[in-house]
Amino acid sequence: MNNHFKENASEIKLKSGYSMPIIGLGTWQLKGRECVETVKTAYQLGYRHFDTAISYDNEEDVGEALKGVDRESIFITSKVPPINLNHEDVINSCRQSLEKLKTDYLDLLLIHWPNDEISIKNTFSAFKKLMDEKKIRSFGVSNYTIERLETELPVANNIGLVISANQVEYHPGLNQEDLLDYCINKDIALVAYSPLGRGDILAESVLGEIGQKYSKTKAQVSLRWLTQKGIVAIPKSSSKQHLQENLDIFDFSLTDEEIELIDDLGNSQRLINPELF
Ligand SMILES: NC(=O)c1ccc[n+]([C@@H]2O[C@H](COP(=O)([O-])OP(=O)(O)OC[C@H]3O[C@@H](n4cnc5c(N)ncnc54)[C@H](OP(=O)(O)O)[C@@H]3O)[C@@H](O)[C@H]2O)c1
Repeated sequence: MNNHFKENASEIKLKSGYSMPIIGLGTWQLKGRECVETVKTAYQLGYRHFDTAISYDNEEDVGEALKGVDRESIFITSKVPPINLNHEDVINSCRQSLEKLKTDYLDLLLIHWPNDEISIKNTFSAFKKLMDEKKIRSFGVSNYTIERLETELPVANNIGLVISANQVEYHPGLNQEDLLDYCINKDIALVAYSPLGRGDILAESVLGEIGQKYSKTKAQVSLRWLTQKGIVAIPKSSSKQHLQENLDIFDFSLTDEEIELIDDLGNSQRLINPELF
């Protein structure tokens, strides 16, 4: 269990000192009016954590939807694409994200995917500058393996850059237990993307059997499984009913045996192939 995670807490404390809501709204593939309306609805339902990225091409829509809300009450994550990881490109990307999102700072800015063609020292120094200038409150990575973290953590430590989060694919069909243990040990928050396996994982009957006991859906059981392990989840939905459902997971607890049953679904159902990026 993560040091900074308390069961049934709706937030997790990051190594940077800031708190992150344990459920967020994923916005990949939401664009234009649909994105604006979905983010507004999510905010009204109680979402306070929004996950976007330069490559989703929807930062302006997310910014439009959140215009006028108390900035301190929300948590916004964005991501710098791998082609923009040269020092100056990171700085420019962040400036553009801030403009599009209409905000003075990002709560969390991630390296979206690693890029071995660019020196990581060069990349990290830009994120350190953004932290020092308070343009970002926390820094993190995405799609990082244990091996990559082992290599790059000392580089970050050397310049005083704290890696607060690692966003990776994680759902009942891809239980990356070793990576989770490693991140917990290093006090790096693990954020699950595609936490519902893009909908595919909801075919697993064990989730339905467990859900029946608590009058919860398969999606709620999946999200509860993640959050009980101390993992932050950012499900995407454009349906009001699903948005509500995905937030409504803090009034029940899975037993250790139920968690093990879901763990046993294994780690072979990867949906996003890192080789394609
Ligand atoms: N860092 C990265 O490289 C990376 C990669 C992929 C994704 N992400 C982030 O992670 C977020 C979430 O991942 P994702 O969009 O791939 O997939 P996901 O959240 O696992 O699944 C989304 C799918 O599940 C459906 N769904 C949502 N809630 C449901 C519910 N309660 N019951 C039944 N179906 C439900 C949605 O349909 P409806 O809209 O109809 O509800 C949608 O088809 C993304 O939006 C993005 O922000 C990051």
